[in-house]
Amino acid sequence: MMAEAISTAEKTQIGLTVNGVGTELNVAPWTTLLDALREHLDLTGTKKGCDHGQCGACTVLVDGRRVLACLTLAVMKDGASVTTIEGLAKDGALHPLQQAFIDHDAFQCGYCTPGQICRRQA
Ligand code: FES
Repeated sequence: MMAEAISTAEKTQIGLTVNGVGTELNVAPWTTLLDALREHLDLTGTKKGCDHGQCGACTVLVDGRRVLACLTLAVMKDGASVTTIEGLAKDGALHPLQQAFIDHDAFQCGYCTPGQICRRQA
């Protein structure tokens, strides 16, 4: 909603390669990489758990390095290559990390895994 409240002139155009696909986004200077992925690109596999750099639910790879997307401004990564959980599958087959999440009921931040307290409340 906040992104709609500012004019296009106040936004910055950035280019990202996300899961191997090049894309251009107009983002506010304060837009996090996490919000850019979730709200601009609808890649909701990257989760917003704590939004404070504590849980790791927002972890993505940026140019092959682990990054907490909630603590990273999207404009800082202009030109970068981002891999989200959606980008790990190859040829329709789950990546071992994706399979492990399914096998062990690991969702969101994982604080409660395997207790799954948050799943019971959802
Ligand atoms: S959402 Fe928890 S570390 Fe980013």
